[in-house]
Amino acid sequence: MTESVLEVRNLTKVYRQRRGEDVLAVDDISFTVKKNEVVGLLGPNGAGKTTTIKCICTLVRPTGGSIRINGTDAQRNTRIALRHVTAVLEGNRNIYWRLTVRENLEFFAGLQGIPSGWVRNYIDELIELFQLKEKERTDARKLSRGMQQKLAVACALVKKTEVLLLDEPTLGLDVETSHELRFTLKEMARRGERTIILSSHDMSVVQDICERVIIVNNGKIVTDDEVANLLRLFQASAYRFEIEGRLDEHQAKQLEERFDLLRISGTDHHTEIEAQLEDGNRIYEVMDILKAGDSRIRSIARKEPNLEEIFLNIVKGGKN
Ligand SMILES: Nc1ncnc2c1ncn2[C@@H]1O[C@H](COP(=O)(O)OP(=O)(O)OP(=O)(O)O)[C@@H](O)[C@H]1O
Ligand SMILES: [Mg+2]
Repeated sequence: MTESVLEVRNLTKVYRQRRGEDVLAVDDISFTVKKNEVVGLLGPNGAGKTTTIKCICTLVRPTGGSIRINGTDAQRNTRIALRHVTAVLEGNRNIYWRLTVRENLEFFAGLQGIPSGWVRNYIDELIELFQLKEKERTDARKLSRGMQQKLAVACALVKKTEVLLLDEPTLGLDVETSHELRFTLKEMARRGERTIILSSHDMSVVQDICERVIIVNNGKIVTDDEVANLLRLFQASAYRFEIEGRLDEHQAKQLEERFDLLRISGTDHHTEIEAQLEDGNRIYEVMDILKAGDSRIRSIARKEPNLEEIFLNIVKGGKN
């Protein structure tokens, strides 16, 4: 059996407010993460992702529940527990502005008590991996925001802790830099050297990097499953119907009332309807509605799902 590196049990966080109502940010969540697992924490704004991550790295004190890191209780033995964790928090590029790229990496390796001579190869590798070679002698303050973000993640990696927490690592990066960082994280994940918990509200990031996803909404876990399972589950039940012309209002209303619609779109000439059908036989019910009126059905196909739709569906409270 693979050991679990992180155990979150009944974690609850209430932010007490002097004025106004208290905020229940995390509502009794439990999950465990195994060694070398790469887990995505996915949820809309305000779902509780950052709070969960901050509780794990002890920046926020939980109102209830417990967190064990490598078997050590994070609240009782914070110092020991934190030896195993590094976090890169949302928007917080925890690097030294006046040190160069390489010096930053050497500094963070040194903090962990790793002599720089020893890790030189690893630092070279990280600089390469994060495409920072050209800038290795440049002060961090002179890097672009995306490069600073990459450097922050590289500095977290160089500490070689067992667990890496990344809060919205690709937030605010341009498409290219985001892809580079994703590629690098995927590479880390593929090597299976590190336990990574990564929060994002960008499903494609999670779909790309993580093998497992925990979807949170309103402070609660709504799904915890392997990404591949979720995709498969939806693949079996998501359909796309294409008809000529437009749907009339009555048809649209009927569909909406009776089915779990993912999308209706189209032009004057054709309409595409995507729906989640828990039972393949319900295709005929959809067809009956479509055939009433003058709509001619052009095609019916199973739809390749993506995590974004699955996510929206689950968060909206649809079935899966
Ligand atoms: N320091 C704080 N004081 C009071 N309320 C807070 C504090 N930090 C977060 N909250 C509230 O807790 C809830 C969860 O916030 P959190 O930042 O954990 O969400 P998130 O999932 O990270 O969202 P986002 O995607 O926007 O980063 C929100 O309602 C937020 O307003
Ligand atoms: Mg957040």
